[in-house]
Amino acid sequence: MPATLILGGQWGDEGKGKITDTLAAQADMVVRPNGSANAGHTVATEDGIFKFHLVPAGILHPHCICVIGAGVAISPPDLLAELETLRGRVQLQGRFFISDRAHVIMPYHPLLDQYEEARRGSSAVGTTLRGNGPAFTDKVARRGIRIADLVAGDAASLREKLGLALADKNTLFRHLYGAPPIDPEGMLELAQQWGQALAPYVISAETYVQDALNAGKRVLVEAAQGCMLDLDYGTYPYVTSTSPTAAGACQGAGVGPTQVDRVIGVFKAYTTRVGAGPFPSELLDEIGQLIRERGHEYGTTTGRPRRTGWFDAVAARYAARLNGMTEIALTKLDVLDPLEEIRICVGYQLDGKELIAPPARVEDYACVEPIYETMPGWKTDTADATTIEQLPAAAQAYIARLEALIGVPITMIGIGPQRKQILWRTAPMLA
Ligand code: GDP
Ligand code: IMO
Ligand code: MG
Repeated sequence: MPATLILGGQWGDEGKGKITDTLAAQADMVVRPNGSANAGHTVATEDGIFKFHLVPAGILHPHCICVIGAGVAISPPDLLAELETLRGRVQLQGRFFISDRAHVIMPYHPLLDQYEEARRGSSAVGTTLRGNGPAFTDKVARRGIRIADLVAGDAASLREKLGLALADKNTLFRHLYGAPPIDPEGMLELAQQWGQALAPYVISAETYVQDALNAGKRVLVEAAQGCMLDLDYGTYPYVTSTSPTAAGACQGAGVGPTQVDRVIGVFKAYTTRVGAGPFPSELLDEIGQLIRERGHEYGTTTGRPRRTGWFDAVAARYAARLNGMTEIALTKLDVLDPLEEIRICVGYQLDGKELIAPPARVEDYACVEPIYETMPGWKTDTADATTIEQLPAAAQAYIARLEALIGVPITMIGIGPQRKQILWRTAPMLA
């Protein structure tokens, strides 16, 4: 049975956790393919609120196996702490696994993240400071430490790898950042302790996932971040350091493109982003603040206020095409309930010309003038609707307009954080 990908269509925090939790009720396995503890996926259930950083949101369904794939970088203390918060609430043994090929975020990675952000000054990316970028830098530079290295019990090889990884870092710490160097032996000891703690969960994840697909299991891939934070196609350099795209999700989960038949793009009914970088439809006024408060737009991982703005249909259409999205889950429609009127960014203008897609240069992206279309608001509470037909006509018109602009059917609509606050639609409403 082919796999289903769940991807962020904007700048992250679209509600991927909630959509994954919803679909996991009928899935056998959820795989996390990318990112690290930079992600924060919140799921509100009858048993309280769960905030996931590394563990797939499928863990809340007892029948569902959860796997962290090779494309993720794992900070062992963060993962162990997250598992600790779940212990007693969910069964982990025998249904939670991590890839032996996943890279390790070592304690020097968050330090490098912090020092490098400080060094950039006004050009800082606004990262989550979780060490994501430096860990993936080491991976690409072929000097990373992997989970397999921690659990192998081969101290000599691990010492050698740590020596290689730390040689340049200690030079940077001393001479570029003016910081104390890291002791390799201390790192070795920590790495060995982590290896012992994580060993029960470590498997060859790609083989496990492939076996599940071959056995006809229903596999979901829950990506982190969002397409506009992609290293290649996002607002570079204000991006993350892995690929939150369909291609990146396949790579990180160990799934081939021919093994996927559903690509669900998750979009908010408006736009948010955390950290620096261009945001043409940003609202810096009281409407932006109202959306922030109604949507509780404060980061799950860092607590930072999220920047808010109107729905950006140019970026959304770009993301839908790039990822071959087959359907869309539109979340947080309820947040717009009190608005008199709602705008949609339907075009970008740069130097008097209309662009059909985001420009490559961030300097250009920062200068684009959004072209807006305005629709009437519905000024009605939508949180208790149980069918799409119960939504006010203006809300249905807004959904239909977004669908037409993006060019992909909207099949799920979120009207609140709770599990039951989701409306399903099978027939597309493409204009
Ligand atoms: P993710 O990173 O894509 O999983 O998204 P986050 O969990 O970081 O942020 C989404 C937030 O919106 C979470 O607090 C969810 O509980 C909440 N949420 C998800 N869907 C809806 C919805 O339809 N309406 C409202 N009001 N909140 C939602
Ligand atoms: P989820 O999975 C929103 C952003 C950071 C920063 C940039 C680079 O919850 O949607 P990084 O720490 O990755 O080097 O930071 O990417 N960012 C996210 N923004 N949601 C996320 O994850 C994010 N993960 C990273 O704010 O702008
Ligand atoms: Mg999030």
